[in-house]
Amino acid sequence: MIGRLNHVAIAVRDIAKAANVYRQTLGAQVSEPMPQPDHGVTTVFITLPNTKIELLEPLGKDSPIAKFLDRNPDGGIHHVCYEVDDILAARDKLKAQGARVLGDGNAKMGAHGKPVLFLHPKDFCGTLVEIERFTATIPPVRAFLPPPIVTAGQSGS
Ligand code: CO
Repeated sequence: MIGRLNHVAIAVRDIAKAANVYRQTLGAQVSEPMPQPDHGVTTVFITLPNTKIELLEPLGKDSPIAKFLDRNPDGGIHHVCYEVDDILAARDKLKAQGARVLGDGNAKMGAHGKPVLFLHPKDFCGTLVEIERFTATIPPVRAFLPPPIVTAGQSGS
């Protein structure tokens, strides 16, 4: 079911400092910090040859990573993200096998603008797992992306 490792997310208290460790000490390609108020985090993406690292710093009062940083004051690996071809089929198959999907079970737009779901760490070896739909086509998540409007006489491309 799962495909490639899309990213490993690391929660940090100081994203500028963490980005500098990856840029200067490790010599990685590091993005500028991007505030993501909808997700309660600021993100920095680090592009490695075979995957990505996502640095997460709390943003706002109710950041979903605040408790994690209380338990892990030096920061730490917060979740891993695996790609799946069909996120809803993957969700249904995982639920049928007893895995707990966090939230209301509907795919939400993740930090990369693709539908994602999170799976309970207790069901996955103590690790929070994110699954992300990886596709070049428009994801069929109607709540977030309406179907394209096709008008008569429109030529396809
Ligand atoms: Co993630």
